Amino acid sequence: MIEVRDLQKSFGGVRAVRGCSFTVPTGSITALIGPNGAGKTTVFNIIAGFLRPDAGRVLLDGEDVTGLAPHRLYRRGLVRTFQIPRMFDRMTVLESLLVPPVGQLGENLVHAWFSRDRVRRQEAKLVARAREVLDLLGLRHLEGERAGHLSGGQKKLVELGRVLMSPCRTVLLDEPGAGVNRTLLSRIVDLIRRLNREAGYTFCIVEHDMDLVARLCDPVIVMAEGRVLTQGRFEDIRRNREVIDAYLGAVAVEEEEA
Ligand SMILES: Nc1ncnc2c1ncn2[C@@H]1O[C@H](COP(=O)(O)OP(=O)(O)OP(=O)(O)O)[C@@H](O)[C@H]1O
Ligand SMILES: [Mg+2]
Repeated sequence: MIEVRDLQKSFGGVRAVRGCSFTVPTGSITALIGPNGAGKTTVFNIIAGFLRPDAGRVLLDGEDVTGLAPHRLYRRGLVRTFQIPRMFDRMTVLESLLVPPVGQLGENLVHAWFSRDRVRRQEAKLVARAREVLDLLGLRHLEGERAGHLSGGQKKLVELGRVLMSPCRTVLLDEPGAGVNRTLLSRIVDLIRRLNREAGYTFCIVEHDMDLVARLCDPVIVMAEGRVLTQGRFEDIRRNREVIDAYLGAVAVEEEEA
């Protein structure tokens, strides 16, 4: 469970986050949506330890983790993905799964990683695990392909794969649907749902694709102007006048006309 309490964050004179509070319940797939500039990415970066808030708290499973660095949060079971997948373009797909998520290795882990005995002892196990993950992603046939040659959607799948290689069970996903074609999007949606139901993963997802949010997420938290406007099931909030005015206008009107 992630609890965000009264977060505030300014950049110069811009008050990006102004008293934002919400909860991501354990075992949920929670969406964070809202118009451009609402403060979603800023909140996300604060939770994941990439930005410090000016005020307010972040709790992870009841413990105050405000301001902890990403690698410390990683050790406590929280990992994030990036909107634009950060790949090692010259590695193969299989190799890129053997590298833990960028920016989330602490010094101790870096030492452990480079301790050759340990690597040798773990390698066979890790490779076997990576192949399992590739099967799950439907990318096993591409294990020897260079990561840089993958499509945008396939790179998003590999990012999810790296989450699966980690021990973390609380996962922040930054726009998993952005730039992904419909076929791969369905695969990503199915995978997130399975991980949630069968393996107990908790997700918090920043996403503009309302189709993905409608299919996958509950609760949905709507942000506007740096704070929470409303939250609830997608079916309920999409009828909320303020939400329609702030954000969903185009979606709601399109459907009424159809
Ligand atoms: N590093 C920064 N320096 C200055 N202003 C920033 C910075 N990051 C965000 N902002 C401003 O803070 C506000 C919130 O931005 P944020 O990126 O969190 O919004 P968002 O909800 O993620 O929007 P989008 O849906 O477009 O990604 C915006 O006005 C933005 O211009
Ligand atoms: Mg953003």
